Amino acid sequence: MINEEDSTGRVLYEDGDHKFIWLGTDSKNRKSEIQTMQYLIIDHNRGILLDPGGIHIFSRVVAAVSRYISIDNIDTIFYSHQDPDVSSGIALWLGITKAKVYISSLWIRFLPHFGIVDVTRVIPIEDNGMKMSLKSGAVLEFIPAHFMHSPGQFNLYDTRSRILFTGDIGAAVFTAGDDVLFVDDFTKHIPLIADFHKRYMASNSVVRKWCDRVRSLNPEMIAPQHGAVYKGASVKAFLDWLSQLKCGIDLMN
Ligand SMILES: [Fe+2]
Ligand SMILES: [Fe+2]
Repeated sequence: MINEEDSTGRVLYEDGDHKFIWLGTDSKNRKSEIQTMQYLIIDHNRGILLDPGGIHIFSRVVAAVSRYISIDNIDTIFYSHQDPDVSSGIALWLGITKAKVYISSLWIRFLPHFGIVDVTRVIPIEDNGMKMSLKSGAVLEFIPAHFMHSPGQFNLYDTRSRILFTGDIGAAVFTAGDDVLFVDDFTKHIPLIADFHKRYMASNSVVRKWCDRVRSLNPEMIAPQHGAVYKGASVKAFLDWLSQLKCGIDLMN
């Protein structure tokens, strides 16, 4: 259960010029739709939104963002991939911000199907990823995570906070009202993540390469778009579990 005081968000990292914020939940009002999590990086009073989500949560996310920063200061929107729970609100976000949008080059031509989208404000991320320097000197790395699950998918690693935003990787499916912010006991968390990763992730060879790359980053937290945030021991436990998982085409037979 998410504490009442956390329902409108929680700062996961903070120093003088840089914050990484989880933007809260609407778990009480959720019906059939999957729970999603949105994040906001504030650097030198400029905002970067990570997977701000679909149309029906737009007003809640705008309200949550506004608790921390003026919407006018949102410069950048990062989309991990093209799914509706990630990016179907794009036309609304382009309407109320002047932000530039970053997404895999694979999905640029598909975004206009979510509404009136000025694609000159959408910047393609090429397959090898890229780095973005922020005013404070912090660096964001767009880490390739292709085929996990989308064929054009990126994670965002905030090298200052050492938080890795992973999109659908690490996603858990909670029963309504059972949401927690942090993974406490990883063994108890496995039943909530196993079916999703077995079906949505392409194969063990793909996930193993990703786990090796992520271990080299040595993140403090892994923050997915669904479920709960991994920190401390649960980061290592999740990577150990995922790197051994048979999934996707491994299970076709
Ligand atoms: Fe997805
Ligand atoms: Fe998702």
